[in-house]
Amino acid sequence: MIDDREKPTRVMIAGTGSYVPERVLTNAELEQMVDTSDDWIRARTGMRERRIARPDEASSDMGAAAGRAALAAAGLAVDEVDLIIVATSTPDMLFPSTACLVQSALGATNALCYDLSAACSGFLYALETARAMLQSGLYQNALVIGSDKMSAVTDWSDRGTCILFGDGAGAVVLKPTVTHRGIMSTVSGADGSLGDLLMIPAGGSRMPATAETVADHQHTVKMAGNNVFKHAVRCMTEAGRAALRKAGLTAADVKWVIPHQANMRIIQAISERVDIPMDRIVVNLDRYGNTTAATVPVALDEAVRDGRIQRGDVLLFVVFGGGFTWGAMVLEY
Ligand code: ACO
Repeated sequence: MIDDREKPTRVMIAGTGSYVPERVLTNAELEQMVDTSDDWIRARTGMRERRIARPDEASSDMGAAAGRAALAAAGLAVDEVDLIIVATSTPDMLFPSTACLVQSALGATNALCYDLSAACSGFLYALETARAMLQSGLYQNALVIGSDKMSAVTDWSDRGTCILFGDGAGAVVLKPTVTHRGIMSTVSGADGSLGDLLMIPAGGSRMPATAETVADHQHTVKMAGNNVFKHAVRCMTEAGRAALRKAGLTAADVKWVIPHQANMRIIQAISERVDIPMDRIVVNLDRYGNTTAATVPVALDEAVRDGRIQRGDVLLFVVFGGGFTWGAMVLEY
């Protein structure tokens, strides 16, 4: 096995960006839509409000806005971008890929473009894929984006899911480095046998769109919430611990944890289990809900821009999502 620390090229985050839509959907508004309450949502999830994209705003629009901000932060010109990977479960359409649409919006004409599907784990999977592409030496930089318009695939009559999700996008530019430790370790996994616990059944080749599938809400998120919750805590905890071991670090070395923002109780459970207190965990689900592939890069960008995260800080990302998929990454920002 090759040790990550012995690979010739290290890869670092050179710049971050994010975008969330203006429209705020509050718990009070959800009370008018389904049988729920602000108290229940806050107590069971920690969420207060989330952002909802305009009808004419798709994942590529949000992704391009986040990508533009990340390129500016990294000081990388659009025509220099080598690779664009968009992690999304809500592509604008089945094809062309959302990454190609982002490329067109940005004018990044020299970039190879493709999408990556790993639900809420997509951004971490995309980071790891881009790191490998840069370490191969074939690409000099990558724009990695997580963008999801979950409002487009939410069943607004299902109180078990509609309270959870929001829309948004986050992005990072990856570059090779000799001065930073950059990405130090990644641990990721998948268990396809549990895919039916969290899915959007219709709209693909298994169940193409028909009047019946639309009437039956089969194009929206179906989730066995309680079951997903337990797997999420276990997988994120184990991945986080394993990524730290692989990097040769301990919890005490981590300045900030950026977890997938699915539920405050999941984050608290992970905090206890990896032994990193809540005041070193970046949380924004109270304002944005679960934005799927965008949660980690949006939280990262906010914490970089408000000065919480500084160059040299050791970060731990932990994610979990449909598939099931999960992962953790240790890096020096
Ligand atoms: N308002 C009021 N009551 C509700 C609501 C609501 N919005 N939703 C569910 N309830 C009720 C249920 O009907 C149930 O009532 P009952 O006891 O009479 O049957 C009761 O509350 C408890 O339901 P649970 O599902 O057991 O509630 P739980 O505490 O598990 O919370 C939640 C539900 C918030 C969905 C939680 O399970 C969760 O966060 N799950 C994980 C989500 C996640 O991590 N997703 C992964 C990523 S998403 C992706 O990859 C796209």
